[in-house]
Amino acid sequence: MGQFDGKVALVTGAARGIGQAIALKMAADGADLALCDLKAEWLEETAGKVKALGRRAECYSVDVSSAAGVDVTVKQIEKDFGKIDILVNNAGITKDGLIMRMSEADWDAVLNVNLKGVFLFTKAAMRGMMKQRSGSIVNIASIIGLIGNPGQANYAASKGAVIAFTKTVAKELSSRNVRCNAVAPGFIRTKMTDALSEEVQQKMLANIPLGRFGAPEDVANVVAFLAGDASGYVTGQVISTCGGMVM
Ligand SMILES: NC(=O)c1ccc[n+]([C@@H]2O[C@H](COP(=O)([O-])OP(=O)(O)OC[C@H]3O[C@@H](n4cnc5c(N)ncnc54)[C@H](O)[C@@H]3O)[C@@H](O)[C@H]2O)c1
Repeated sequence: MGQFDGKVALVTGAARGIGQAIALKMAADGADLALCDLKAEWLEETAGKVKALGRRAECYSVDVSSAAGVDVTVKQIEKDFGKIDILVNNAGITKDGLIMRMSEADWDAVLNVNLKGVFLFTKAAMRGMMKQRSGSIVNIASIIGLIGNPGQANYAASKGAVIAFTKTVAKELSSRNVRCNAVAPGFIRTKMTDALSEEVQQKMLANIPLGRFGAPEDVANVVAFLAGDASGYVTGQVISTCGGMVM
């Protein structure tokens, strides 16, 4: 018996990194998975691993920042699976640069994916959750949304806004037994962070009390806690998963 037996979980940005780890943790705990990413074929690896765990996986190609695309996708998922119990808004991008040199395009791109994407998926999935009077939404923010970071004004603003959005969703949906929480990861080893120079990585390591970078599974475990009944009395919260960088 897994904590998510009979549940359907939708994970965005599930092709790799943290999103893939979340999907696999959900599947290991019994959930069927609706996997979303920019291209459905990128999701084949994740889908194969979910199926190897004995769970159902369907892949959906969608840009989280496209209102029309998100609407069609959520409707299709509800048709395919009959419902959505858990929504994990994980898709995210960075386009770093100091504010002085940051282009409007880089600002818009990051806000559109990281913030608008969370709004669009939440809005589309919440209808069904409200009707069934149960659901759990987990948004992947970042500690950068709590503390800021030079060179990441767009990213910090998007993640800070995701935290504020999370609390508002929690307040709007509590009466329907739909919870909404956020996870704020610190430095997690994925393709996103591999792009940082060795020097930056070493500087960050020096500031992590637990003395190691996080693994995608470290985030997935906290997401599973927030998605499941063990956190049934928790809503509107942000759990930093950062080895103690922020406390
Ligand atoms: N890696 C870290 O250290 C770290 C720290 C804090 C927060 N996060 C957050 O965790 C989440 C996952 O990050 P990751 O490190 O696994 O990144 P990643 O780049 O490895 O994976 C992100 C996934 O999102 C998908 N994606 C990007 N834009 C999309 C769009 N418009 N529509 C649909 N899918 C899209 C990508 O194709 C990719 O599969 C992001 O929200 C990121 O901001 C990561």
